[in-house]
This record gives sequence, structure tokens and C-alpha cells, in this order.
Amino acid sequence: MYDSQDRFFVRPRALSSWFFTVLAVTATACVPLSSSLAASPIDTPQWRSALHYTPQRNWMNDPNGLVYYKGLYHLFYQYNPHGNFWGDMSWGHATSRDLIHWDEQAVAMRANPSEEVFSGSVVVDTRNTSGLGTVKTPPLVALYTSVYNAGSGHEPGVQAQSLAYSIDDGTTWQQYAHNPVLTLNPESSHFRDPKVSWYAPGGYWLMTAVVADAHVVKLYRSDNLVDWTFLSDFTLPDVPHRGALWEMPDLFALPLDGDPARRKWVMIVNVNPWSIAGGSGAMYFVGQFDGTHFVPDDVAPAGSDPARYQWLDHGADYYAAGTFSNAPAGKAVTIGWMNNWDYASHVPTSPWKGAMALPRELALKTIDGRPQLTSVPSSSYESLVKRLPPTRIEAFEVSSATRDLALSARGAVQNIELTIRPGTAQRAGMIVRASASGDTGTRIFYDVRSQTLTVDRSHSGNTWFSGAFSKAHVVDLPLHDGGLHLQVVIDRNSVEVFADHGRMAITDLIFPALDDDRVRVFAEGGDATFSDIAITSPR
Ligand code: FRU
Repeated sequence: MYDSQDRFFVRPRALSSWFFTVLAVTATACVPLSSSLAASPIDTPQWRSALHYTPQRNWMNDPNGLVYYKGLYHLFYQYNPHGNFWGDMSWGHATSRDLIHWDEQAVAMRANPSEEVFSGSVVVDTRNTSGLGTVKTPPLVALYTSVYNAGSGHEPGVQAQSLAYSIDDGTTWQQYAHNPVLTLNPESSHFRDPKVSWYAPGGYWLMTAVVADAHVVKLYRSDNLVDWTFLSDFTLPDVPHRGALWEMPDLFALPLDGDPARRKWVMIVNVNPWSIAGGSGAMYFVGQFDGTHFVPDDVAPAGSDPARYQWLDHGADYYAAGTFSNAPAGKAVTIGWMNNWDYASHVPTSPWKGAMALPRELALKTIDGRPQLTSVPSSSYESLVKRLPPTRIEAFEVSSATRDLALSARGAVQNIELTIRPGTAQRAGMIVRASASGDTGTRIFYDVRSQTLTVDRSHSGNTWFSGAFSKAHVVDLPLHDGGLHLQVVIDRNSVEVFADHGRMAITDLIFPALDDDRVRVFAEGGDATFSDIAITSPR
């Protein structure tokens, strides 16, 4: 279950100069410095996502400040305005009406000589509790991490929480005059990623933030978004991997099985490394929150494998996931960074690096006797798919063979839905973004004996850009009624698999040739049936 890439990935932090960033990233990857500096990247439009957000140019990591306001979804994100590598961290900005088509906006907050702008969140201060706007024109308030440089009045590398606000609906941002609004005593160089929400039962703002290297989520409350009072620490009795960092926490409530009377609390903790697929991933806990303490219902025993924990996604490329503030109908809509710190710096795209996964809606359902998060593509994506005429293929059986789907099923950007009944086969599945020769393609298959679903990208195209690019991601998935429903969202640069209507998600980057656009199905060691096949090409 665990394709081990379990190593401590040292990233350059708070080194804003271009040279030091390249030096540190390059040294980590054991690539000769000269080759990295000399490389003149060639543009790679063949990997520019059609359905997933990418900035036009330069480096992007975590989604930040996810907020819905006045009909627009705002996606801020960790961004380097100066190059296609991690550094000079600032907040990029994009907006969308449907979570699929995004407009890149001006950079919202820039690194400056005294600080970099790390991850954080945005809330709509509707009642103007901060006094930074008016009730008529409520401010949007961002809480983010300042990472201080020498000369800032803080030790270089110190991380503390700062505030910025916008009184023009998120277009421009002003730094609060008395930043930081929250720092540790003594100051810490790992205190970051504030996520703020309104805690209605108590009538106050709630913040979660991490002390990343101490594996602690710290909870605070505030009446005005400026003054913060400590509530409690959340950690685990036996932290699974002490070399890992805890990053980007998020705490929110969801009804269990759709019943508003049975609300449970979910704590997302993004961990790097030690994720289920190796490297970075989004872990979560389900439990109770009484306004002060978050207590998980159950925690895996000491020494457990990552598979004993709960993960938002079982692929290698879903990190820093968090929820939108103020989302319509109180839905839990998430975006994750479709990447992995194990190899993010080496991803071969240019002139940009970094894409967001498809926005998803989370729900909490009792599955196999315990509450689990399900995730499906956002309802706006589903409506887009439904509006398009699908290619439908009649049900058929495959006996120990591989079969091409119809020519009309070809495409580099596709939504494929189908039901697989493995029948007597040992393995049954599909190959997407497959080459004409059959040498290349990403295999998505069910293994009957191990009752697992696998996404295998070992022959998916360019896999050699990093030795840490893990090859196969496997998840336990007992079949219900002998069949498995899959929704597979294929883009120029990625595969997202939603199994059993959101019971399991697997997100993986791939780097195929543009004309590797065939879809095949296969059965090994017996007969499998493929039915309810509908293929669309969403744009
Ligand atoms: C997560 C993270 C955050 C930090 C940001 C810096 O990927 O490490 O903890 O705020 O990225 O870019």
C-alpha cells in the first residue's frame, strides 16, 4: 500500500535570493549545479492543463485564501513572481465563476526585502468585526504567515501570523499596520499556515495553524481577527513519523450521512513526507470539537503503516488541500495542489510549474462502519460534463485481452465513466493516454485477489525527470456487488480517479506525449465486463 519515498525533503526556507534557492533545491536532488543553471527550459504546451488551474508562468504551490464572494471563487496561491522555481513566496491570485475556468489576476501580495508571504486563508468579515471596512463594504481579511528576513526586526527565518485586508472585493490588499498579529514566545521558524473560519456556536473566529516540525496544530480564537487567544493543541500520542512536517491544517464540520443533527468535525493535516503514496499527502481525522479542543474519534495505534490513517486522496499528487470559506450552501469545497514535494522542483513543465487538482466536494459518510470523507468533482464540473454529448459504448466482455475503445473515444482531455465487473479475471482495468504502439499509457486497474485499485504511471511518458517520481499507487477497495464504478478525469498532465462515487480518489501527474490519446481496456486471467461507458471532452 505504501510506495516508499519516505525521506526527509529539505527545502530552502526563507532564502529569498534566486541563487540560494537554486543551490538548495539542486543540492537536495543531487543534480550538478551547473547543469541546472545552464538548462534552458523549452516550453511544454503539451502538458498545460485544460481543466486544472495553472498560472501562465512561474512557480506555484499551495492553494491559499480560498474564498467565495459575490459570485466569484477566489483562489490565491503560493507563487514566485520572479521564476519557475520555489522562492520569493508571494500570493498569486485567480478567480472563477464555476471552479473550472479561471482568470489569472494581478499578484495579490508580494514578498519584500523584509519578509516572504507564506500560506494562509481569507474570510469575509461580514459584520466588520475587524473594523477594517464597514458593514456595508465588508473587508476580506487574510491571515497569512510572514517569514522574516534579516533587518526585519525578527530573527531571520522566524514565522509569525500576519493580517492583510481588501476593501475592493479581493482585488488589492493592504498589510495591517501592526503585524504580526500572532507569534510564538519564543518565536518559531516553523509556525505557519493559519486557516480561519467562523465558529458559529461560540460566535468567534477560530484559527488553526501548525508548528510544523513539532507535529502540533495550535487552535486560537478571536473576536476581531486581530487579537488571538490560545485555545488548545492538537497532536497525536504517537506521532507516526517525527521527520515529517505537519502543514496546512483545516478544521470544519460536516453532517454525517447527510444528517444535520449528526455533525462531526474533520481535521485535515497535510503531512510531508510519509503520505500514503510517498512524499506529501493530505491526512484527516474525524472527531468532536467543543469550541476549545478537537478530539479525534480514533487514532491508529503506534507503529501503524500510513494505510491505517485516513487520506483525502491516495495518489501521489494531492497536497496542501483546504476548504473554501463562505462556499455556497455551506458545502465543503476543496482544492489541493496537484504535486508532491518529493519532486515538485523537477516537474518538467515550462514556463510554469504547478497545477491545482480539480475542485472537489467533500461529504462524510459511514463506510465500512466508520465515518469517512468522500470526494467527488465539484457540482459545476458535473454540470459541465452533463451538458456535453457523450460518446457511449455498449457493454462488452473482454477475455484475457486488451482492447482499444472506439476511435471516437480518443482524447487528451476527457471525462470517462464506466463500470468494471472483473468476473473471472484476475485483473481488469483501462489504459489511458495510451500510445498507438501500446508501449506507453497510464494503467488503472482492479486486482481481484488483493481487492485493490491501482494507478500505475510507470509507463506514462516522461517519468525520468526525478528518481522520486513514484510509479504505482494502490488502495484497498473491496467490491460492492462485484462491480466498480470509476470516473476518470484525464487532462494533458494528470489523471484523477474517483472510485465508487467518491469513496476513493487517486490523483497522479503524468507527462505523456500529446498524441498518446488512446483509451484501452483489458482483462487478465479471465473475463471482465465493461459497461455504462460514457466519455466526454470537457472544456
Ligand atoms: C506547504 C508549505 C507551507 C508553507 C508554504 C511555503 O506546501 O510548506 O507550510 O506555508 O508551503 O511555500
